Amino acid sequence: MSDPITSRADAEAADAADVLAFARSRFVLPSGVCYLDGNSLGALPAAVSAAVVDTVTREWGTDLIGSWNTNGWWTMPTTVGDRIGALVGAAPGQVICGDSTSIQLFQSLVALARMRPERRVLVTDGANFPTDQYLADSVGRLLGLDVVRVSPGEVTGVLGPEVALVSFSAVDYRTGELWDAPAITSAVHDAGALMLWDLAHVAGAVPFALDDVGADAAVGCSYKYLNGGPGAPAWIYLARRHQEALDLPLTGWLGAAAPFDLASSYRPAGGAERARIGTPPVLSLRALDAALSAFDDVDLADVRAKSLALTSLVLERAAALGLESVTPRDPARRGSQVSLRLPHAYEVTQALIARGVVGDFRAPDLLRWGFAPLYVRYVDAWDAMATLESVLETEAWRDPSYANRAPVT
Ligand SMILES: Cc1ncc(COP(=O)(O)O)c(C=O)c1O
Repeated sequence: MSDPITSRADAEAADAADVLAFARSRFVLPSGVCYLDGNSLGALPAAVSAAVVDTVTREWGTDLIGSWNTNGWWTMPTTVGDRIGALVGAAPGQVICGDSTSIQLFQSLVALARMRPERRVLVTDGANFPTDQYLADSVGRLLGLDVVRVSPGEVTGVLGPEVALVSFSAVDYRTGELWDAPAITSAVHDAGALMLWDLAHVAGAVPFALDDVGADAAVGCSYKYLNGGPGAPAWIYLARRHQEALDLPLTGWLGAAAPFDLASSYRPAGGAERARIGTPPVLSLRALDAALSAFDDVDLADVRAKSLALTSLVLERAAALGLESVTPRDPARRGSQVSLRLPHAYEVTQALIARGVVGDFRAPDLLRWGFAPLYVRYVDAWDAMATLESVLETEAWRDPSYANRAPVT
C-alpha cells in the first residue's frame, strides 16, 4: 500500500504517479465537476458518440436491414456479452447482453429454481436492491417457494436441504460492503443449492472470477461502472455446465434454436444463446460496445488498487472529521464506494451537487459516492471531502432550495 494521502499536494502527486491516468482521456467529462456517481450512471466514454452516429447514419441509414447480417447486429448480444464476461471472470460463451437487470433476474431466478424442483426455499438478502427482492418474491409466488431473507454474511445459518437457490448482490448498493463470494458460493453448493450473483456494483470496478468462484448464474447492469449509458442493456451469465439443462422462463423467439424456421413451438438454442429473448436494442448495444473499449489495456488489478486508495482517502478524511461511514474500513470488505450517514443527507447531497461534487442520496440518510477509477482522480476525492467539510461547517445545505425532491435522488 502506498503512503496515505493527507494533503492536496499528496493527491496531486498520486495523480502524477497513477498508472491509470491515461484512461481519463477516454471519457468526456464536464470541467469543474467531481463526478462521483459512476456507480449509478457511468460517465460518457469518448468513443460512444461516433460509434452510435455511424450505426445510425451508415449502418441503419444506408445498409438498412442488411445490417443484421453484415454489420454484426444479430450477434451483438453474444459479442458484447463476451466482452463483459472478460471483465467478470467468465470465459467466452456464457454471457448474453440485452434487456434489463430486472428481466435477467427473473430469467435466472426461475431457471435456477427449476433445477431444484424438490426444494421449496429461495434465499435473498433483506438489504438487497429492491428489484432483486421484489422479483424474488414474485418468483416465490409463481413457483410456490418460501422466500427467506438473510444477510450474506449469515447465510450458513439458513442453508439446508430445503434451499433451492440463493440470490445475493456481491456489493451492497447502500453500504458498499463486498461479500466473500467464493466462501458463500461454496457454502451454498455444499448445501446442494445454487448461487446467483448480482454484480451491478462489481462489473468494471472490482475484479470478480465468476468461473473460478463456481457461480451458477449472475446478472448485472451496464450503465454503472461499465459506462454503457442511461438504460444500457444488462447481462446474464449462465455457467457452461448448466446451459443445456436450463429451462428459462422467457422463451422469446431469439432464444430458439433456429428463429427463422418460424416454428410454432419452442426448441431452445444450444449454449447461452437460449438466454436471448427478443430483438436486441442495437443502438444501445453499439453504445455499450464502444464504451467497453475504455477498458482496453486496463489491468483490473490496477483498477482495484486505485479504487481502494480513493475510498481509503475518503474514509480517512471522514473519520478525521468525525463523520459516520457505513462502508467497511477493511479494504477486503469494500467495493468501490463510500456511503456516509448524515443528518439531512438529502440536502447535503444537493448542496454538494450545486458545488460540482456529484454523488447521490439513498434513503433514509446516506450520502453515496462511487469511485470509477478510470476517470476519478485523487484530487477529485480530496476536493470532494474539502467541499463536504465546508458545506457542513457553513451549514450551506440549509438553503431551502436543497430540500426540493426530484423523482431521482
Ligand atoms: C444491485 C442492483 N440490481 C439491479 C439494479 C437495477 O435493475 P434495472 O437495471 O432493471 O433497473 C440496480 C440499480 O441500481 C442495482 O443496484
